[in-house]
Amino acid sequence: MEIMELSEQLLNHQLGRNIYDDSGRLLLPKGTILQISHINQLLNMGYGKLAIGTETDADNINDNESSGEINPLTHAFTVAVDNLRDLMAKVSAGHLVGQGEVEETIELLFPGVMETNNILLNLQDLRRKDEYTLQHSVSVSVLSLKIGQLMRVPQHDLKMLGMAGILHDIGKCKISSAILNKNDSLTEEEFQEIKKHPVYGYEIVKNMKLNDPRIMLAVLQHHEHQDGRGYPLKLAASKIHLFSKIIAVADVFDAMTSERPYRGKMALFKAMNEILTSSVSHLNPQVVSKLRTYVLSICPGASALLNNGNIGKIIMMNTDEPSRPLIQIGDQFINLREQRDLWVKDIIM
Ligand SMILES: [Fe+2]
Repeated sequence: MEIMELSEQLLNHQLGRNIYDDSGRLLLPKGTILQISHINQLLNMGYGKLAIGTETDADNINDNESSGEINPLTHAFTVAVDNLRDLMAKVSAGHLVGQGEVEETIELLFPGVMETNNILLNLQDLRRKDEYTLQHSVSVSVLSLKIGQLMRVPQHDLKMLGMAGILHDIGKCKISSAILNKNDSLTEEEFQEIKKHPVYGYEIVKNMKLNDPRIMLAVLQHHEHQDGRGYPLKLAASKIHLFSKIIAVADVFDAMTSERPYRGKMALFKAMNEILTSSVSHLNPQVVSKLRTYVLSICPGASALLNNGNIGKIIMMNTDEPSRPLIQIGDQFINLREQRDLWVKDIIM
């Protein structure tokens, strides 16, 4: 397969990869013999290069972006961010918004999240862009959908959970951006104001007249803790809805593994360890356990950056000690359970 400039010279050439339209739908499948109408259509859509010919094994490791192909799930994430930006602008301006836009966003995300095993790979793409609050809300929705899927939440309920994830921080629209974007530490007063966002969010979502009360509950309860020391209502674990518990775990995991202006992102294993520790007092242990099993299941095949600067491929997880997997570097295999002077600093999906 070859990457070639898109022009009429590609007439009768065979397309090497799928091409998707703006809504993430398949437009031209790989193997299509390109006609002038295809070429003109792709030029109009802004494509500059195309993958041409038959895919070989070596092609599989090429970056999708270099071929001009848009990964449909990553594209759905981008559209979701755009939709949420519009929604938040309307809420900030005091306009009433309906549930239709949120439903539309979930319908767009849902199939890709259900079918994709390693969603962290797509979330990584999303995080390369700005606007943390928007990305974070979409990421929390996607992670909640994945955790819910693994917990066998029925499909209709899953969509409600996804909507709650998108909306979980909508109350931040009512908090001054000077407080939200402050890079220094917050004063007690500012912190108390930020802590009002679940209640603000609950009121906004109530006005949206969403026909499922669990969405309102999840927005209101996503900062409640297992030990009853969360906010705003200091609810005991038995009073916290499952949706709120799932969103709380997705929220903490995404925040820890995202880069912020005032701190770097936490490496995957370190974040999982922190979350496991938090599950004693803050987070629901069953939900944390599902997330942990999921994260460990998608690690084989990923690249691991070791403390000595070498990068290897994760071959197998050691179940007793998952942070010390079997790594391959070139033709050498290193079992980190045995080689204790080496450890994984970060995982690159
Ligand atoms: Fe929040």
